[in-house]
Amino acid sequence: MRYTRSISIFCSIIMSVHGWASKLPEERELTTNCSNMSLRKVPSGLSPATTTLDLSYNLLFQLQSSDFRSVSKLKFLSLCHNRIQELDIKTFEFNKELTYLDLSYNRLKTVTWYSLKGLRHLDLSFNDFDTMPICEEVGNMSHLETLGLSGAKIRKSDIQKISYLHLNTVFLGLRTLSYYEEGSLPILNTTKLHIVLPMNTNFWVLLRDGIKTSKILEVTNIDGKNQFASYETQQSLIVENSKTSILLLNKVDLLWDDLLLIFQFVCHASVEYFQIQHLTFGGKVYLDHNSFDYSNTVMRTIKLEHVHFRIFNIPQESVYLLFTKMDIENLTISDAQMPHVLFPTYPTRFQYLNFANNVLTDDLFKKPVQLPHLKTLILKNNKLETFSLVSCFANNTSLKHLDLSQNLLQHENDENCFWPETLIAMNLSCNKFADSVFRCLPTSIQILDLNNNKIQTVPKEIIHLNSLQELNLAFNFLTDLPGCSHFRRLSILNIEMNLILSPSLDFFQSCREVKTLNAGRNPFRCTCELRDFIQLGKRSEGMMVRWSDSYICKYPLKLKGTRLKDVYLPELSCNTALLIVTIVIIMLVLGTATAFCYMHLDIPWYLRMLGQWTQTWHRVRKTTQEQLQRNVQFHVFISYSEHDSAWVKHELIPNLEKEDGSVSICLREGNFDPGKSVAENILNCIEKSYKSIFVLSPNFVQSEWGQYELYFAHHHLFHETSDYIILILLEPIPLYCIPTRYAKLKTLMEKKAYLEWPKDRRKCGLFWANLRAAINVNLLEIREMCELQTFPELNEESRGSAISLIRTDCL
Ligand SMILES: *[C@@H]1O[C@H](CO)[C@@H](O)[C@H](O)[C@H]1NC(C)=O
Ligand SMILES: *[C@@H]1O[C@H](CO)[C@@H](O)[C@H](O)[C@H]1NC(C)=O
Ligand SMILES: *[C@@H]1O[C@H](CO)[C@@H](O)[C@H](O)[C@H]1NC(C)=O
Ligand SMILES: *[C@@H]1O[C@H](CO)[C@@H](O)[C@H](O)[C@H]1NC(C)=O
Ligand SMILES: *[C@@H]1O[C@H](CO)[C@@H](O)[C@H](O)[C@H]1NC(C)=O
Ligand SMILES: *[C@@H]1O[C@H](CO)[C@@H](O)[C@H](O)[C@H]1NC(C)=O
Ligand SMILES: *[C@@H]1O[C@H](CO)[C@@H](O)[C@H](O)[C@H]1NC(C)=O
Ligand SMILES: *[C@@H]1O[C@H](CO)[C@@H](O)[C@H](O)[C@H]1NC(C)=O
Repeated sequence: MRYTRSISIFCSIIMSVHGWASKLPEERELTTNCSNMSLRKVPSGLSPATTTLDLSYNLLFQLQSSDFRSVSKLKFLSLCHNRIQELDIKTFEFNKELTYLDLSYNRLKTVTWYSLKGLRHLDLSFNDFDTMPICEEVGNMSHLETLGLSGAKIRKSDIQKISYLHLNTVFLGLRTLSYYEEGSLPILNTTKLHIVLPMNTNFWVLLRDGIKTSKILEVTNIDGKNQFASYETQQSLIVENSKTSILLLNKVDLLWDDLLLIFQFVCHASVEYFQIQHLTFGGKVYLDHNSFDYSNTVMRTIKLEHVHFRIFNIPQESVYLLFTKMDIENLTISDAQMPHVLFPTYPTRFQYLNFANNVLTDDLFKKPVQLPHLKTLILKNNKLETFSLVSCFANNTSLKHLDLSQNLLQHENDENCFWPETLIAMNLSCNKFADSVFRCLPTSIQILDLNNNKIQTVPKEIIHLNSLQELNLAFNFLTDLPGCSHFRRLSILNIEMNLILSPSLDFFQSCREVKTLNAGRNPFRCTCELRDFIQLGKRSEGMMVRWSDSYICKYPLKLKGTRLKDVYLPELSCNTALLIVTIVIIMLVLGTATAFCYMHLDIPWYLRMLGQWTQTWHRVRKTTQEQLQRNVQFHVFISYSEHDSAWVKHELIPNLEKEDGSVSICLREGNFDPGKSVAENILNCIEKSYKSIFVLSPNFVQSEWGQYELYFAHHHLFHETSDYIILILLEPIPLYCIPTRYAKLKTLMEKKAYLEWPKDRRKCGLFWANLRAAINVNLLEIREMCELQTFPELNEESRGSAISLIRTDCL
């Protein structure tokens, strides 16, 4: 007990997900799979919910009456490939829902019956029954559809018991057959009968009875050596009451003569579709092919697949002609290593020919053939080489579908092609076609598969394929999408796995009807050129097949492996026109801003001031000791008109003294020697001062300047470039206001060699800085040369005259 319980744990248990999720508990599906586990007993403790139980490929040899009692929901039970010898169907009496029971490949000898009314599928094939395990109870299982049987003896009396069952499939899996009572099988009422023949049985008897039994007859394991040996054939060739229209033979190994007899037999039966799979034949030929009777056949289709020849000495032609002379519509001979096919010289009824996977060569088309009804020709995977030959062959047919894939086909430019106007679909994939193939295509073509060839471009001068709807050019060497000028109705294009770096968008303009495009897995170069294509891919997701997983950048290296969808190419960096416009706009804005500043913020004044300031510093650095040798006592001498004295007292002087308060200023008040003339005093003052400041205003020009003009005109210190004088323009002086005799002043004014007092208070900072820079040069050096002299403080009373000299301090 412990043993089996522990084993049951290893059975894989699968719950059908949908079932568990949505259904009521009693409707849930549970699969317990204990297949291939070397079980000797049915495991106990199976879940009562189990609906499917697989116990196949184990070592079970006996079933207990209680084995399946717990799994009352069981529907599917497989016990095949075990060693069960006895079976009491009553074991399943509690499994009322059981519909599928497989007991094939056991060692059953006896069955004790019990009617399982619900059973649909019961398989007892490949067991060791002596007689068929059939009794009345089976006849009462009215739902039975598929019944698998076996038995060494097949008798009418046994089959009779199920003659009232209307079965779908009867499967006779026989290990041995020692006795067959003729006429047993036709008693069955079934749509399909499948017989797996044992060795040493009489094939002909079973075939004949089988053909009288069901619409579909399948016979497997036909072995010429054992099953055909001792049978007189002639009488068997005529069969009455034949029912079979579809005959399938599987795993057939025969002498050619026996195969010929089977064909002759089938030819005159009711068979319309005859298929042989896995056929091997060979041997000597004794029968005369010319006596083959093709007449009175209802056969329409013959299909031979996986054919092997043994060494044999039948003329090949006879073999080919046996099939092609048969008055049928469809013929398939595939996987047969067949090097050639011959057709009769008269017109045949063939509509469908399939010679796939053979070794056919161009020789196939060398003899004229008449296949006026041919609609489908499949020559896939052969050794054909010349495309134009195929076209001439096809011209004499009414071909619609042509499959020439997996050959060695090529087309030379100088060869002519003639296609029937009926041709609508061609498969030319996996050949050696180059661009020239486009010169040899039927104008009626609608579906064209050219994948896996050597096409580099779709040439411009091809014929117009106005019906073409579907074109497959995958796995070629194209470097761009083809335009649609030659196939205006194209709606599906596959061009994946080519060499397209950046598809041109002309395609989308000329190919307006394209609904599906597969351009994936090309080595895309993700630069600006690809931008529109990417946009298109994103916009039309339904159109681009497998967007975006198959569309991946190959170049540039830094983007390799990125999906096109994820590549960011900004409009600005890609659109030259836009870039230019943007630059122009930016420049315009900057220009306007500059002009605005220029006009409203008086930039020229600032520039001039800055220019002067730098010049001053430059000069200061160059000022030599020699220049300072003058016997100076004051830093500055200020000359101004009485009219401007307020400004001088309250603006100029305080601002000059702000810097350490150490500037010595010569003013008229207090510094003038009353014993000398005014002019003398002034000159004295100028000469004793390091710099002279003239506060210019119209008043000053009129009342004061006269005293200096003459002096300046003759004194060497005051040439134009001299920096000993500093002119401050307090108010604008129009040039015409300056009297002509003041030539010196005029030159100075023209040169703009003055500091302009700004009306705007905000600008004053710069003005003072500039002025101080002009004066405050090398103060220390000057101070060292100063003699210690004390002057009285500047007092209010002494301010009467226009010029005063102040010697404040000299540290
Ligand atoms: C049980 O498992 C085997 C392989 O282990 C598989 O072939 C078989 O189909 C499974 N049976 C069922 C009912 O799923
Ligand atoms: C059973 O299992 C063995 C190994 O475990 C494996 O070789 C064999 O193919 C399996 N048989 C079937 C029918 O699954
Ligand atoms: C078969 O079913 C019929 C009625 O459905 C019944 O009368 C008969 O006894 C059943 N036979 C057997 C052998 O169970
Ligand atoms: C066989 O079964 C079908 C229904 O499947 C029925 O129509 C037909 O009459 C049956 N034939 C015989 C001979 O009982
Ligand atoms: C022949 O084959 C074609 C294509 O497979 C099919 O459409 C047609 O029905 C077949 N004809 C017969 C008589 O089987
Ligand atoms: C084409 O068919 C005609 C008769 O329909 C026949 O005479 C001629 O030989 C055929 N030509 C080829 C190339 O098969
Ligand atoms: C092709 O077929 C058409 C009509 O069947 C015929 O007129 C033409 O001559 C044929 N061409 C060749 C080269 O056989
Ligand atoms: C053409 O043939 C190839 C291989 O033989 C096949 O994979 C492909 O699907 C076929 N194309 C069409 C359009 O049927």
